[in-house]
Amino acid sequence: MTYQGRFKVWRGDAEGGGLVDYEVDVHEGEVVLDIVHRIQATTAPDLAVRWNCKAGKCGSCSAEINGRPRLMCMTRMSVFDPAETITVTPMRAFPVLRDLVTDVSYNYTKAREVPSFVPPPGVKAGEYRMMQEDVNRVQEFRKCIECFLCQNTCHVVRDHEENKQVFAGPRFLMRIAELDMHPLDAAEETGTDRKRGAREEHGLGYCNITKCCTEVCPEHIRITDNALIPLKERVVDRSYDPLVWLGNRIGRR
Ligand code: SF4
Ligand code: F3S
Ligand code: FES
Repeated sequence: MTYQGRFKVWRGDAEGGGLVDYEVDVHEGEVVLDIVHRIQATTAPDLAVRWNCKAGKCGSCSAEINGRPRLMCMTRMSVFDPAETITVTPMRAFPVLRDLVTDVSYNYTKAREVPSFVPPPGVKAGEYRMMQEDVNRVQEFRKCIECFLCQNTCHVVRDHEENKQVFAGPRFLMRIAELDMHPLDAAEETGTDRKRGAREEHGLGYCNITKCCTEVCPEHIRITDNALIPLKERVVDRSYDPLVWLGNRIGRR
């Protein structure tokens, strides 16, 4: 079935902009990114959009469709009523560069602030051994395609620009959780305290587990339940466990 779809696409730049109406053919099996490409091919060749794989794997085509953060290439037109006007806007939490393209450098800044995996001393590459359950636990987090939809959705930064300084966001708190749970990570032995860093440098306490990040993740990673809540528990154990506290006191003498 082919029908004439109605779309409103945000056009503009850092100075401002607004929604522009388009009427475009929609064919069976198409996704929102196909429509954006058809708008480019027919009426608006200068419409800026970022995309790469059209397979839900590169994480480039994040936007807001009818106000909901989604990947344009994974949003089928068949989920909408043909009579409905579809609105496509750029991710709201990041500064607009042009049209649907935002400046996501906040995320790369936060990524750089997370200390990398520290290989265990005396174990060569190829000799790493882990229990299968430890592999399974961190493997879920490795499915992340860095679409930054979770970062865009979390109210801590979406509604409070000023929090970007102190809050790493769900994607990077999940990365810290992944490394902290990793049985071979030797960061602590080299003086990097990931739990302290999560709390004091990456703003773990700002997360009040609303789970909006989990709801929008296209990889269905259980960010809140499997990364953020366990990280909070580990941080609390470290901060308030009286034995750990006593051990630290004795160790300092
Ligand atoms: Fe995207 Fe999910 Fe990764 Fe967040 S955790 S960046 S929503 S894939
Ligand atoms: Fe934000 Fe996710 Fe926590 S939406 S508040 S990081 S549970
Ligand atoms: Fe790669 Fe959409 S174009 S995830």
